Amino acid sequence: MCNSNHQSEIKKRRTFAIISHPDAGKTTITEKMLLLGKVLRISGTVKARGSGKYAKSDWMKIEQDRGISITTSVMQFEYKNILINLLDTPGHQDFSEDTYRILTAVDCCLLVIDASKGIEERTKKLMDVSRLHNTPIITFINKLDRDSLEPIEILDQIEKELKLSCIPITWPISCGRNFKGVFHLDKKLIYLYDKLKKNHVFKNNFNYLNKSLLKKNIGSDLSIQIYEELKLISSIYSDFNKRDFLKSIITPIFFGSALANFGVNHVLESLIKWAPSPIYRNSNKRTVQPEEKNFTGFVFKIQANMDLKHHDRIAFIRIVSGKYRKGIKLKHVRIKKNIIISDAFYFIAGDRFSIKTAYPGDIIGIHNHGTIKIGDSFTEGEDINFIGIPSFAPEIFRRIFLKNPLQQKQLRKGLMQLSEEGAIQVFYPINNNHLILGAIGILQFDVVIQRLKIEYKIDAIYEKVNIILARWVTSSNKNSIDMFLNENRSYLALDNLNNLTYLAPNQANLNIITSRYVDINFNKTREQ
Ligand code: G4P
Repeated sequence: MCNSNHQSEIKKRRTFAIISHPDAGKTTITEKMLLLGKVLRISGTVKARGSGKYAKSDWMKIEQDRGISITTSVMQFEYKNILINLLDTPGHQDFSEDTYRILTAVDCCLLVIDASKGIEERTKKLMDVSRLHNTPIITFINKLDRDSLEPIEILDQIEKELKLSCIPITWPISCGRNFKGVFHLDKKLIYLYDKLKKNHVFKNNFNYLNKSLLKKNIGSDLSIQIYEELKLISSIYSDFNKRDFLKSIITPIFFGSALANFGVNHVLESLIKWAPSPIYRNSNKRTVQPEEKNFTGFVFKIQANMDLKHHDRIAFIRIVSGKYRKGIKLKHVRIKKNIIISDAFYFIAGDRFSIKTAYPGDIIGIHNHGTIKIGDSFTEGEDINFIGIPSFAPEIFRRIFLKNPLQQKQLRKGLMQLSEEGAIQVFYPINNNHLILGAIGILQFDVVIQRLKIEYKIDAIYEKVNIILARWVTSSNKNSIDMFLNENRSYLALDNLNNLTYLAPNQANLNIITSRYVDINFNKTREQ
């Protein structure tokens, strides 16, 4: 086990990501957190992707062309002596499998919901992924300075659609033009929102169930309504219980307005108080604890073209245990080779910074000369492979064609390498020679065409295909698989690792097939 310094480094870390539907306010909250962490000094430095304005991580070529971000940056900042690693989850058009996989590298998630919209589609998908690891969720209901749904209605949606019990920690006093602030139910404080001064917050220390104080502070009309509301919610919702939070059974709920920087500090405070410090990860052989002395970590993302001139590729490693120090000798477990890591980096807005030491929960980037794949494990000698960094079933499909048919071999090689990096998934139908590509986000297809052109000198184009779902097919019964294969050849393909995959033209077709072949598993994820 590690020494006390190492233990205190672990204790002071929190690694989290933000889950939200586009436009719910992720970028704005990130910015306010960076302001609170004193990484930024002025508002407006971080802009929403797709806005065409400068963003802290919008720097790659394709990003610059389109004003969007397809990279992950890790923002590290300190808040009240706690070191926070905030992993950026690509959001708008740049939504991709990477976005899902980043959630496997964090220990907690902040769920951001637009108060006027409630639960939206993308939120549900991202929550499904964080459910795979039972990641604890803190919820921030944003944009209370606009007209909103009833708070109880939003909480009902969270309970029904996301299957999380809600524990309000703050409660809004009205919304939109009447937004007056929040009650902090835990601290028994009222935080008043000053519309004119925006960022300015008044704090009144009094018992909120005191009617006359309520009336004095928020006016007689609202005070009666709020008094009743507070009585009601304290009878409906239970108290916060950290154990249930860590098991992802409950989510603490906060309300506010990120734009007005109102309530974001409440979320940060709960994050440093309740979110776990870096936790264990499971490997194929045993559970690895962060306090262990020897370094271990896994690759959850590979980023190409960090430097366009050199076709530079960087593998991002989440440290699980031990300590990274410059010059460390690590075993690349899959290929059974030792390598000296002479330099590891973190990246912000295209600048790379060399890291001297890093601890569990931190993310380091190392050079990849084409040998590292998503899911690879690095250790100081032990033969273990981390599990739980899966591939996710693609949601959009295209058939890829060559403009020059003679480049078939290069195309297959290029696609193989790009799929190993996790940039795209490739499927080889059993019945024909087509090449089907699958992705989670539409931009992944554009990235592949551009990278094939620049890195492999291949001109390719796409055609739409009649596929909308993919499922990896497994069964413990070999006869069932053989029968299934014979009867459904035209829907079956192999992926780049030769895993059998069912490519369904629609949901109804998949429903029929799953009910017909009961001892076959149709998996939405597969381990690397
Ligand atoms: P995202 O990263 O989740 O996609 O959302 P982002 O923070 O970019 O916010 C989307 C829009 O919502 C932005 O407006 C942002 O200013 C606005 N917004 C975020 N939080 C709040 C809030 O608490 N209250 C209100 N009223 N608006 C909020 P935009 O007009 O699209 O962009 P911009 O011109 O302001 O950059």
